[in-house]
Amino acid sequence: MATSKRKILVTSALPYANGPIHLGHMLEYIQTDIWSRYQKLRGHECHYICADDAHGTPIMLKAQQLGITPEEMIANVNREHQQDFADFRIGFDNYHSTHSDENRELASNIYLKLRDGGYIKTKTISQLFDPEKEMFLPDRFVKGTCPRCKSEDQYGDNCDNCGATYSTTDLINPKSAVSGATPIMKDSEHFFFDLPAFEGMLKEWTHSGALQQEMANKLNEWFEQGLQQWDISRDAPYFGFEIPDAPGKYFYVWLDAPIGYMGSFKNLCSKRDDINFDDFWGKDSTAELYHFIGKDIVYFHSLFWPAMLEGAGYRQPNSVYAHGYVTVNGAKMSKSKGTFIKARTYLDHLDPEYLRYYYAAKLSSRIDDLDLNLEDFTQRVNSDLVGKLVNLASRTAGFITKRFDGKLAKVADNSLAESFIAKQEQIAEFYETREYGKAMREIMALADIANGYVADAAPWQLVKQEDKQEEAHQVCSNALNLFRILVTYLKPVLPRLAADVEAFMQQPLTWDNLAADMSGHEIAPFKALMQRIELDKVAAMVDASKDNLQAIETAPKAETELDLDPISDEISFDDFAKIDLRIAKIIKAEHVPEANKLLKLQLDLGGVTKQVFAGIKSAYSLKTWKVS
Ligand code: 2FM
Ligand code: ZN
Repeated sequence: MATSKRKILVTSALPYANGPIHLGHMLEYIQTDIWSRYQKLRGHECHYICADDAHGTPIMLKAQQLGITPEEMIANVNREHQQDFADFRIGFDNYHSTHSDENRELASNIYLKLRDGGYIKTKTISQLFDPEKEMFLPDRFVKGTCPRCKSEDQYGDNCDNCGATYSTTDLINPKSAVSGATPIMKDSEHFFFDLPAFEGMLKEWTHSGALQQEMANKLNEWFEQGLQQWDISRDAPYFGFEIPDAPGKYFYVWLDAPIGYMGSFKNLCSKRDDINFDDFWGKDSTAELYHFIGKDIVYFHSLFWPAMLEGAGYRQPNSVYAHGYVTVNGAKMSKSKGTFIKARTYLDHLDPEYLRYYYAAKLSSRIDDLDLNLEDFTQRVNSDLVGKLVNLASRTAGFITKRFDGKLAKVADNSLAESFIAKQEQIAEFYETREYGKAMREIMALADIANGYVADAAPWQLVKQEDKQEEAHQVCSNALNLFRILVTYLKPVLPRLAADVEAFMQQPLTWDNLAADMSGHEIAPFKALMQRIELDKVAAMVDASKDNLQAIETAPKAETELDLDPISDEISFDDFAKIDLRIAKIIKAEHVPEANKLLKLQLDLGGVTKQVFAGIKSAYSLKTWKVS
């Protein structure tokens, strides 16, 4: 199909550089990666860009807790993120950091253009200030008693207990979560971006028809509520870029974060001669620009970001595509249930292609949440990828190698392959419109047809009959050609499998090759392409994701007694330092019959014997674990 070559720039949201990538994040990277790989498979020029989002108060404080500089911390996290992404086969064309020279220059220039255009205002505001740490406190770093239900220890501006929302200054008995000091009110001059000045342009952009319906509806609600001036400055101490001509004032992290898309692309341009920054970002750019994001950051990407681009003289995104959240087994990801699964923990136990396929099978273009049901995940991957797809090759390839010199026959009746190839436009449209679930269903329906064909023809019986050799050769060749077409269709989702099949079929899997004539083509000996998912491995991944603090002697109390880090619910370094950690020899371990998790352990603490209960039984008896 002759299509003209498109120039496309696509991004995923930039993950914060203060924590690990988890399976919730992975949905977005997998969604975008499939789209980018699909565009490349169609022969388009597509650049997939990302970076770490490296600025802000949480990152500054986390580095302090760890006793290292923010630069060291973000360098470490950047390495880990890139390794996680590479192992999930996320094919970024560039992965950078918002704490980069390119981004500093772009952020400063954009700010200066906005300022010169009259879009930056100043106003003095009063905020909570930690007198001990000598810093202003973002909402999430203030704790106190809920003014409505009087529940203690509530963060910021909303109550976990009764759901009330309030101003942080209404909290009863507020305390700084950083130092424990009682905050005071303090004035400071802030810089504001004049978002309301862009209302007309934003409305036009919203109604251009390129946004998801749910997003356009949301934007209309925001327009009705009225756009507000946006506070883009923060006072020192802050980890970020200092604002030009304003010593001690820094860009708020969300100002330079989306500019990080440009910064990463600029960094890519500096490494390559064949791409030009202005071709993609200039006002008259004819390239396409798409941002894939989660639904929680729609406001930033559909209001602030297009307005900033407009005000600074750049082009607009063609669209912003939002997705929903990931739940696991029907509920929010939970550390205690072991369903808060880090990318690395997953990779330690399972093949990334399983998750890529499962997410693809459940993704649509809508902003719905997606449930990763671990039992369904196991069954679906085993049934579709192993039972239907790979099985086509494993049942037929051996005969080609053993009996037919490794060469495919000239297939007399090509009608089945032709009917598969005839689906290319439909499948292409599903990929293009991010209806991956529909694409996967279409492809698996073809796999069913191919399997039905092989089962009816039963080449394993044909080969046993002297006069049926040619027929056996034809059936196996036809089946392998169908398999090749199916794996080509799945290549954006399963890049490792596709690469292995390219090696096995000795042919590149490209869209243009879909209808290739495979007569007489030599294939390599077949090697296993994919293993079934073992339930034990899923169980081990869940166990490895459980919060192991439960194994401390005071298990039931430990988690609540520790002051959890407000940045994420991981234990902070300071709290970790408070734990009395000792090494003990386990001299006896017994099951506690009525408890699922507990083992009764007798410990030798250097001469003193102690009995403790540890919630680690499931780690040692996988059979008791059930996917629920
Ligand atoms: O919400 C987040 O995780 C942000 N770090 C996303 C930033 S996306 C872009 F604007 F930088
Ligand atoms: Zn409350």
